[in-house]
Amino acid sequence: MTMVASSDAGRSCLIHNQPYPIMKTMKKLCLVTAAAFVAAALSASAEDGSAIYAKECAKCHGADGKGQTTMGKKLKCKDLTVEAAKLGEAKIAAAIKDGVKEGDKVVMKPTKDISEADAKAVAKYVLTLK
Ligand code: HEC
Repeated sequence: MTMVASSDAGRSCLIHNQPYPIMKTMKKLCLVTAAAFVAAALSASAEDGSAIYAKECAKCHGADGKGQTTMGKKLKCKDLTVEAAKLGEAKIAAAIKDGVKEGDKVVMKPTKDISEADAKAVAKYVLTLK
């Protein structure tokens, strides 16, 4: 009985002439997974921008950027959905890294320990606020 079963299995492999069709599927899966990783890596900086904004900025400027939070109203935050486009990415990134002064008065402190790349990512995100 066992003999018959094993010779059957051998024959079916020869007929299909593809001993390991599963390997093809595995290769395809690998490529798809790799592509997904690359896509995730490329979009990571944009995602970080919104996450950092939510953590570091929204308490004053509001999740929508309009500055209508308790802090935002008290500190007279302008509407970033209007101001951001006037400033542009570089000036926003500078404001995030170096803070904002009005005359000699610091109106917004620099964001602690933020990297140039993260400041840029947040600036990019701020520019998307509508
Ligand atoms: C403690 C409150 C507070 C926090 C937190 C804060 N800001 Fe501000 N921000 C202000 C105030 C106050 C001003 C000055 C008034 C204005 O221009 O809206 C300001 C100004 C700005 C400006 C305008 C700069 C200019 O040159 O006119 C930008 C852009 C800005 N903030 C972005 C951010 C981003 C992005 C973050 C997070 C990384 C952040 N702010 C965190 C309070 C804050």
